[in-house]
Amino acid sequence: MLLCGLAAALSACGEPAPRKTGGVGTARPGDRVVAVSAVPSGSGLLVDMPGNAQLLVVQPRSGEFRAFNPACPHVGSLVNPPAAGVITCPLHGSTFDPSSGAVREAPATSGLTEVALVRSGDDLVLG
Ligand code: FES
Repeated sequence: MLLCGLAAALSACGEPAPRKTGGVGTARPGDRVVAVSAVPSGSGLLVDMPGNAQLLVVQPRSGEFRAFNPACPHVGSLVNPPAAGVITCPLHGSTFDPSSGAVREAPATSGLTEVALVRSGDDLVLG
């Protein structure tokens, strides 16, 4: 451990990486989020954002893109990308509609917070 620098200590000496938060992190409107081609139709993905954050980008129907803060409104665990037409929180099982972020099943009592997203050529950028 004495030979490890601070940055090296975090990665090479077995310390876990800091937990990611949900949202846009330090990104600003107009910043690129992800390539359109990277978002699977009928599903989505968690995108790493600057500032140790993650954003959930989905394509519930072909050509329709939405972004949500993946922090579950119940206790804050990050939800999974849609599978079989539903977004699921792995911690307690709440489910959400991938088209709107609306809650479908408790224990969450409210939906995911949508983040403005616009298409710019082959990319999706923050609105
Ligand atoms: S944190 Fe998501 S259901 Fe509890």
